[in-house]
Amino acid sequence: MTACPPALLFALLRHLSDGRVHSGVALATGFGVSRATVSNLLGQARAMGLAVHAVRGVGYRLPDAPVWLDAEAVRHALAPEAAGLVLQVRDCVDSTNRRLMADAGAAHGQVLVTEWQPEGRGRRGRRWQAPLGSGLTFSLSWRFETGLQTLQGLSLAVGVALARALRGLGVPVSLKWPNDLVARGRKLGGVLIEAEGDMDGTARVVIGVGLDVRLPAAFAATLGQPVTDLVQLGGTADRNRVLAACLSALHSGLAAFGREGFAAVRADWQALDAHAGRAVRLQLPDGGAVDGRACGVDETGALCLAVPGQGVQRFGAGEVSLRTLE
Ligand code: BTN
Repeated sequence: MTACPPALLFALLRHLSDGRVHSGVALATGFGVSRATVSNLLGQARAMGLAVHAVRGVGYRLPDAPVWLDAEAVRHALAPEAAGLVLQVRDCVDSTNRRLMADAGAAHGQVLVTEWQPEGRGRRGRRWQAPLGSGLTFSLSWRFETGLQTLQGLSLAVGVALARALRGLGVPVSLKWPNDLVARGRKLGGVLIEAEGDMDGTARVVIGVGLDVRLPAAFAATLGQPVTDLVQLGGTADRNRVLAACLSALHSGLAAFGREGFAAVRADWQALDAHAGRAVRLQLPDGGAVDGRACGVDETGALCLAVPGQGVQRFGAGEVSLRTLE
């Protein structure tokens, strides 16, 4: 589904999220539409990955209603220093990164978060998909007056900020270079950073984050890589709380990065490194591969690999993927 569903769908789902059974007639009357429309909309919600139970002759209920996004709840839970972030919550946006990148006038600290993102973009040209209500998809626009040339290591610093936020919520998160959030060898979330601007003037970045909060098992099985979610890891399903924690940590992490660069968090990144000291295979964009032992990152955020017979080699962010062999 690449188009946004009707706004009424989200209103209906929020109404249904009290855990009770609602009859088709009551829903149709309440929303001023036909029963067929109600049935059709709830069919769309199912196709978007949300469990909707229909009890014949009785009505509908949501067995696992998500905590829907609520701008007030997020603002309330933000750290005081992050109160200046400008929060926009939307039911559906094609891609939060694309939208913020296209908005050249987006404020410093503009946040766009959406319930449904039909054209979510992942790193390396991949798609980012999440069943309705199962995760968090948001982007943050941020300006650096020191130019693009000072942004080396930014993506790793973002990973550190997010890991701090989630650890603060009791979730044992590590990082897989450059900035995948992982736990117990499974991917929990990813970051896509896009940048524009001058090498030594103003640079603007859009930091996009996709995080699994409560992923239906059937969907997880289709992803072709091991994934996990916050709830499996003992974390909260309250997406507003998780979003506020991530935004608060990003706010302070980006401010520190602006003052001190990657040096501010290099040691923290190494402490969170899921592969430190392990034998890994690095797959290069040209199709080649390098085997070695992961030995952290250098001062620019490049991955360091101890390659047998060739000493320590460094690999630049965004050019490689990492696979453990152990
Ligand atoms: C990855 O491939 O691991 C990075 C995924 C990043 C996905 C997020 S979801 C919110 C933001 N908007 C997008 O279109 N992509 C990012």
